[in-house]
Amino acid sequence: MDKGDLSLDGDWCYNDSMEKILLTGGTGYIGSHTAVELIKKGYDVEILDNLFNSKITVLDDIAKITGKKPRFYQVDLLDEKGMEDVFRDGNYDMVIHFAGLKAVGESVEKPLKYYENNISGTINLLKCMKKYGVKKIVFSSSATVYGDQDGVRLTEEMQTGVGITNPYGQTKYMIEQILKDVALADREMQVTILRYFNPVGAHESGFLGENPNDIPNNLMPIIMKVSTGEIEKLMVYGDDYDTPDGTGMRDYIHVVDLAKGHVAAALKMKPGVYIYNLGTGKATSVLEMVKAFELASGEELPYTVTPRRAGDLAKIYANVEKAKNELGWVAELTVADAMRDTMKYLNYYSKKK
Ligand code: NAD
Ligand code: UD1
Repeated sequence: MDKGDLSLDGDWCYNDSMEKILLTGGTGYIGSHTAVELIKKGYDVEILDNLFNSKITVLDDIAKITGKKPRFYQVDLLDEKGMEDVFRDGNYDMVIHFAGLKAVGESVEKPLKYYENNISGTINLLKCMKKYGVKKIVFSSSATVYGDQDGVRLTEEMQTGVGITNPYGQTKYMIEQILKDVALADREMQVTILRYFNPVGAHESGFLGENPNDIPNNLMPIIMKVSTGEIEKLMVYGDDYDTPDGTGMRDYIHVVDLAKGHVAAALKMKPGVYIYNLGTGKATSVLEMVKAFELASGEELPYTVTPRRAGDLAKIYANVEKAKNELGWVAELTVADAMRDTMKYLNYYSKKK
């Protein structure tokens, strides 16, 4: 079967002739949802993760949804020998590179940890890819590379790298540069950079969701922990922004839509470097997120308004035309869908504990 025949929607499609893809960080939040969507489309998926911020049981959860448990390697990107062992017999056609540390606040306190893990880890990965002739890579970048551009619909051609306020964001910007240089030096390289906006939600089965080992500082995992009673109340960081209700607005994308964006990207790889925003194009405020969660849970979510968080912008949202036109991908699910699925995951997870 020609992979061009595959539609992004519709039924599952198992076949034996599809590409073999290694997901680094594949037991994590976005990687695990992407594994499901790729397996559903018939790809042969393997996962590498050091389990720093995810759990091995995610592999069983992937199997519950897809009927297939991906082969797993507990390896750190910084472990050159371990990486080599994975690649030696891997015969991968493609790598989707999710693995990285992502806690913004911690990256300010421990910059070297972030630069070493994210940058050196990526360099090790790229060295293995070069040695074993793997030419395709999809990289998890972030809207953070657009820096301090506030309130404008962000397009891929806009300036990046200026006004990034933390080492985490710098690593995303630097890795983008590294990938561009690698592709310049080897014209057969096929590089797709996906700039995610704010992923939220869970798999509709309730089996997969966001379950970080570390203390979260993003809105949605905090809302989840308030709802389970692990955190007393949500701090709403500022209600004096120039937005309709005064709270910050972001482009929240359902994680399953985001995962499907990777399938779309995998289908359209070609030599060179291609960059796409993965967002919805719509901005939602913090208070609108609170309301949406309350609607889904049927419970009031305790919150208090505090001063702004340093480095936050009023409104960040994507122009999503490029992904639509070139990848044929658009986000289809809503914030309400994300909240419904988050509740399913919370219920599943609380029973599992
Ligand atoms: P996550 O923490 O759930 O998943 C990342 C995985 O990478 C984890 O399972 C972790 O154990 C693994 N990992 C980290 N360092 C590793 C190393 N040195 N070797 C092997 N494994 C390692 O995070 P996520 O939300 O799924 O994010 C995936 C990627 O997307 C990350 O690169 C992140 O920076 C990027 N991203 C995430 C968001 C977001 O809000 N979630 C937004 C933009 C970009
Ligand atoms: C943050 C990071 C960004 C990273 C992105 C995705 C900062 C300054 N930026 O962006 O680099 O790419 O996560 O990982 O940390 N909010 C509250 N209370 C909270 C938490 C958040 O009101 O307890 C608000 C924020 O002010 C913001 C919105 O919720 O308006 C979303 O915040 P968050 O989930 O942290 O994402 P970003 O700020 O977009």
